[in-house]
Amino acid sequence: MTLLLLQCSIVSMATLSSSPSAPAITQNPDIRYLGRLLGDVIRAYGGDSLYRQTEYIRSASVDRARGIQGADLVDTGLDALSLDDTLNFTRGFMLFSMLANLAEDRQGVAADPGADVASAIARLDSHGIDRDAVLGLLAHSLIVPVLTAHPTEVRRKSMIDHKNRIADLMLLKDAGREETADGENLDEAIFRQIALLWQTRPLRREKLFVADEIDNVLTYFRDIFLPVLPALYTRWERVLGARPQSFLRVGSWIGGDRDGNPFVQAPQLEFALKRGAQAALAYYLDALHALGAELSLSTELAHVPQAVLDIADASGDASPSRQDEPYRRAISGIYARLVATYVALTGDQPPRPSSLKGQAYASPADFRRDLVTVAQGLASEGNGALATGGALGRLIRAVETFGFHLATLDMRQNSDVHQRVVAELLKVAGVEPDYAALDEYARIALLRRELANNRPLGSRFSDYSEETASELAIVHAAAEAHRIYGPACITHYIISKAESVSDLLEVNILLKEAGLWRAGVEGSPPQASIMSIPLFETIADLEAAPQIMSAYFGLPEIAGVVKQRGHQEVMIGYSDSNKDGGYITSTWSLFKASKALEPVFAEASAAMQLFHGRGGAVGRGGGSAFAAIQAQPRGTVQGRIRITEQGEMIAAKFGSRDVAMTNLEAMTSATLLASLEPEGISDKDAARFAGAMDELSQNAFNAYRDLVYGTEGFKEFFRQLTPIQEIAGLKIGSRPASRTKSDRIEDLRAIPWVFSWAQARVMLPGWYGVGHAIAAFEDKALLADMAQSWSFLKSAMGNLEMVLAKSDLGIAARYLPLVEDQAMAERLFGRIREGWALTHDGLMAATGQSRLLEKNPTLETSIRLRLPYIEPLNLLQVELLKRHRAGEDDPRIKEGIELSINAIATALRNSG
Ligand code: PGA
Repeated sequence: MTLLLLQCSIVSMATLSSSPSAPAITQNPDIRYLGRLLGDVIRAYGGDSLYRQTEYIRSASVDRARGIQGADLVDTGLDALSLDDTLNFTRGFMLFSMLANLAEDRQGVAADPGADVASAIARLDSHGIDRDAVLGLLAHSLIVPVLTAHPTEVRRKSMIDHKNRIADLMLLKDAGREETADGENLDEAIFRQIALLWQTRPLRREKLFVADEIDNVLTYFRDIFLPVLPALYTRWERVLGARPQSFLRVGSWIGGDRDGNPFVQAPQLEFALKRGAQAALAYYLDALHALGAELSLSTELAHVPQAVLDIADASGDASPSRQDEPYRRAISGIYARLVATYVALTGDQPPRPSSLKGQAYASPADFRRDLVTVAQGLASEGNGALATGGALGRLIRAVETFGFHLATLDMRQNSDVHQRVVAELLKVAGVEPDYAALDEYARIALLRRELANNRPLGSRFSDYSEETASELAIVHAAAEAHRIYGPACITHYIISKAESVSDLLEVNILLKEAGLWRAGVEGSPPQASIMSIPLFETIADLEAAPQIMSAYFGLPEIAGVVKQRGHQEVMIGYSDSNKDGGYITSTWSLFKASKALEPVFAEASAAMQLFHGRGGAVGRGGGSAFAAIQAQPRGTVQGRIRITEQGEMIAAKFGSRDVAMTNLEAMTSATLLASLEPEGISDKDAARFAGAMDELSQNAFNAYRDLVYGTEGFKEFFRQLTPIQEIAGLKIGSRPASRTKSDRIEDLRAIPWVFSWAQARVMLPGWYGVGHAIAAFEDKALLADMAQSWSFLKSAMGNLEMVLAKSDLGIAARYLPLVEDQAMAERLFGRIREGWALTHDGLMAATGQSRLLEKNPTLETSIRLRLPYIEPLNLLQVELLKRHRAGEDDPRIKEGIELSINAIATALRNSG
C-alpha cells in the first residue's frame, strides 16, 4: 500500500472516505488546497524523508480511522521517529490542524444558522413581537463580551498572525484573483506564509507578563472591535429602521483580575487603562484625520449652519486653502482638542500631533457633542447620509461605545483575600481585634456600621502586610483612574468564591477606603461608584445565591444604592461548578440559580444582569453561545448580559472582522430572543421537566462526586494519567497554574483540570455522571420529550454530544501505563469506560439517534476529519511523557511534550 500512498500529497489524504458506520465525508476544498501546500513546505524545508515519514504515519492513521484492518498505529513507524523528527512531525500535524481550522472558519462551520439580528427580528415578528418592542428592549440593554487572559491559548500571537494573513490571501483567491496587490502570484504568496509558519517557533520560551497580555488583547481592540462595532450598528440601524442606543460594549479583565495572580497590582491596572486610552484616542484621531479629508464641502457650494461655523472659527485654523471649508476647519479644531486630551490623559504625545492648539475635552460626552454638532449641521442641510451613514456616524458610535477608556476594566479578587485585608484594617484601626472569629451576623453588623460613615480605616501612618498594602493600592489606583478617564473605566468589582453577604460588604469597605463608596447623608442613599458583584461558583453557593442576594438587597443602604443604579450584576461560574458537581449538575444549578434570582431582583426593583463566566471547553461552559443564551430561563436576560471570552476563543471568535461580526450578531440576536421570545414550553411542562432535572442532576452529582472526590487514589490516577504536571510548565499565561501548593482536586484551578482531561482525550468534566443519571431515570419517554422540546436540555445535550465525539477512550487507554499502580488504573479506568458507555447510550436513547452527531452532519464531518490527525499526537505524547517521567533529561523531550499539548489543543479547538 505504501508506494501509492507515499506518492500522494498530504492533501489528498485530508480526505476520509465513508466507513461502514459513517456517511461519506464531504471534502472541504480549502483543506485539500492548504494541506497540499503544507506538504510541499514540509518537503521543501524538512526534507524528503520527513515528508515521507509524516505522510506514511498520516495515511496509516487515516486507514485506522476508516476501520481498515491491520492498520495499527504501533506499526506505522511512529516509534522509529528520532527525537528531532518527532518534533518536526508534531509541528507538521499542528500546522495541518491550524490550516484545517482556518478552512472551516471560512466555510462558517462554527456559525449557527439564523444567528443574526435580522433573523431574530423576523422570528420575533412571527410571534407578533414588533420592532418597537425590540427597540424598547434595546433602550435599556447592555450586552458585553468581556475579554480575559485565562491561560488556554497555546498558540503564539505570531502564529495566529501568519494564519490570519493566509486567510486574507484566501479571500483574494475567492475573488478570482491570481495576484496579490503587490503583483505576487497568489499561490506562491500562500506557500510563503505557510513556509513562515513552518519556520516560526510555536512555543513561547519566555514567561508571559501581564503587560504582554494587555498588549495582545489591544490588537483585537484596534483591528477588530473599534471598527467592527460601529459597522454592526450601521447594519442594525438599517434592519431596525431606527438608531438604538449603544448597548453593545466590550469589557476586559486584563490588568484588573488578581484572583490567584499576584502579578496584577496597581501598576498593571494603571498600565492597562493608559494603553486602552491611547488605543481609543489614537483610533479617533485617525478617524478624524480621514474625516477632514472627506468633508471638503465649500461654502461656495453648500450652506453651512452657524453651529458648525462657530466650531470652525474657534479652531484657530487660518489656513487660506481651507477658509471656504468650514467642516474641515471644524474637524481640525476637534482634532487639536483631542490631541490635547491624549496628552492630558496619557502623559504622552499622540502618533500624529496637531499644528493647532486646543483645549483638552473634559469628557467623551464633550467630544461627542462637537461631533454631533457637525453631524447635525450636515443633516440640516440635506447631507443626512454623510452625517449618519458614513464615517462620521461610525465615529460617533465608537465614542459612545469606547469612550476615552476603550474597555471597562473589571476588578476581581478572591473573597478570602478581602476577608484578610478587612480584618487587618479593622485590627490596625483598633476597631475589632479578630474579625475572622466573628459570625456572619456580627460581621454584617460591624461592616454596616463602618459603611455608614466616611471615616476610612486605613492610615498612611500605619504599617500593613504586603497583601493589604497591595489591595489598598489598587483601590486607590481605581479611584485615580476614575478621576483621569471618567467613572466608566471601572464599574465592576467581582468577588470570587462569594458565599455570604459579608463577602459583598467587605468589598464596599475596601472601596470606601478610596472614596469609591460614600456614605449617604441626610437620608440620601450612599454613592457607590463601583458595583460589588458576587461570583457564585460552587453548587452549594449557587443554591444559596437567591438567599444571599435577598439578604443583601434587604439592607437599607444597599437597597438605596441598587435603586439609584437601577440594576445589579451577579456572576455565575461554569468551570468551578462543573469541577465541583459534574457537567449536568453544574448546568442545571446555573439554570436554577438564575431562575430563582429573578423574583429576588423583582422584589428589589432591580434589573438583573447576569455575568456568565464560561470558557471554550464544554467542561467550562463552552459550546454555542447562541444556543446557550437562548436556553437561559425566561425572565433572566431582559436585554442585559455579560459573558467572558477567554483564551483560544478570543482568536476563534474575534480573529477577523467577518468572524467577529458573525459572533457579535449571534450574541446580540440570542439576547433579543432570550429576552422577548415566549417560553417554548408550557408552565406545566416546565414544572414536570424541572422535577425530572432535579432527579437527573442529583444522580449525576452522586456518580461524579463518588468517582472524583470519593474514590481512594483518584487524585493520583488523574495526576499520573494526564499531562497535568507538564501543562503547568507551558508559558501561556502570566498567572501561576494554581492558587495554592495543595495538590487536592478541590484546590486545583478549573482550567488545568479541564485542559488535562482533554489532552488525554477523556474529557471527563464534559460528561461523567450523565450516563448514570439517565440509566437510573425510569421515564425514558419524558426524557426524550425534554431533549426534543426544551431549549435548555437541547443545548446541554448538543454540547455533551460534541464532547463525546471528541473523546476517545481507546486512545485514553494508551495513557494507562503512565499510572504507577496498574491495578488501580485498570479499576478506575473501568469505571470511566462504563460511565462513557452509559452516557453514550443514554444520549442516543434520549435524542433518538443511532450514532453520535447523526443529526449534525457538519460537525460530524469536521470532527471525523480531525480525529486521525490527533491520534498519532496522543501516542507520541504518551511516549514522551513516559521518558520524561522516567527521568530522561534531553530538553527535546520536554519540548516535544509541550509541542504535542499545543498540537492536540489546536486540533481539538475548544479544549481549554
Ligand atoms: P478562574 O476561571 O479559575 O479564573 O476562576 C475558571 C475558568 O474560567 O475556567
